[in-house]
Amino acid sequence: MKLTQEEQQMFNGECSKSEQKAMQILVVLGKIYGAEKMISVTSVQIAGVSYSNLGEAGLEFLEKIGEDGRVKVLTTLNPAGMDLENYKSLGISEDFADKQRKVIDAFKKMGVDVTCTCTPYLIGNKPKKGDHIAWSESSAVCYANSVLGARTNREGGPSAIAAALTGKTPEYGMHLEKNRQAQVRVKVEAEMKGTERFGLLGKIVGEKIGNKIPYFVGIKTASTEELKSLCASIATYGGTAMFHIEGITPNQTSIPIEQITVKEDHILKAEVELNDQCEVDFVSIGCPHCTLEEIMKISNFLRGKKVTKEAWITVARPIKKRAEDLGYIKAIEDSGAKIACDTCCVVAPIKGRFKCLATDSAKGCFYGVGKNNFKVKIMSFEKCLEEMVR
Ligand code: F3S
Repeated sequence: MKLTQEEQQMFNGECSKSEQKAMQILVVLGKIYGAEKMISVTSVQIAGVSYSNLGEAGLEFLEKIGEDGRVKVLTTLNPAGMDLENYKSLGISEDFADKQRKVIDAFKKMGVDVTCTCTPYLIGNKPKKGDHIAWSESSAVCYANSVLGARTNREGGPSAIAAALTGKTPEYGMHLEKNRQAQVRVKVEAEMKGTERFGLLGKIVGEKIGNKIPYFVGIKTASTEELKSLCASIATYGGTAMFHIEGITPNQTSIPIEQITVKEDHILKAEVELNDQCEVDFVSIGCPHCTLEEIMKISNFLRGKKVTKEAWITVARPIKKRAEDLGYIKAIEDSGAKIACDTCCVVAPIKGRFKCLATDSAKGCFYGVGKNNFKVKIMSFEKCLEEMVR
């Protein structure tokens, strides 16, 4: 790999130990993936923040970096294992909270903005079209590439930290135009409306074409909420880092010859697959984290009502603060529903605590089953709200 003088100096250790280690990680990665050079990134998002994923070894690794490592570009975090302020009401133990706080402190020491969210693009970490970035969370990676037109591979925790400490990433994969072209045309012949339907579409297409890049035709409109739901599920069920939607997404692409069709029947079948026989005892909305508009709708619905089961609304803390100023949060909390910042129903350590999760998120269903042993029911955003008070 060709390194600039500055990159070579980092590599040689003419800087902090952490920068050297970071540049060495990036060079190894670059060699593995055949990158010719490094490129500068404008933003980083780091996943692997929950103590339940990191464990003691991960915490020690972060504390070591925090001794002399400082980030060079705007860097935010993916959700952690708990709401950093309100963890008790979510049933998180003091012991876990102590460990999770240490993880967050290590990131703070590096200069990371410790807002923990999978929707960094809603809270100011919003790259422009053409920006090179290094993000980790699969749904956010897909959103950045597809909807914002920025360019990022799906980084692992260590490679994202390395990018943050150096401001660099190796140029390969989704950073190169040739790898961003659509590979399969997906003709959508179903009515596309609602976050759960976009999530189901992502499940169907992800399972059919894996990590190939789809070019959707037949989708007339898609809101931010619907797009983030599609991003989350298509990346989860198939692994793709990007899609194109005719007339909606901003990237240029050639049109592929290979074609599949998604019909109403396919959506209904996918819906059945994500509907177990069970009595709902847990409802969660906000996978990926809610927009301000979603919080407003939830607040309007729950005003004056009481929830009858555990209900979590997961959202980035800055959005919660804005919603608080607008008077949305009080009505939600008065109903008994819980606003959970910094975390979500997948990364929080709640395995076995509930039996049956209702959510509008196909990704939430996937991990509800796979990680937390829940039975699941996918339903529309509106039905989830009704389920909370049923
Ligand atoms: Fe975000 Fe958690 Fe879903 S990280 S995309 S809310 S699984």
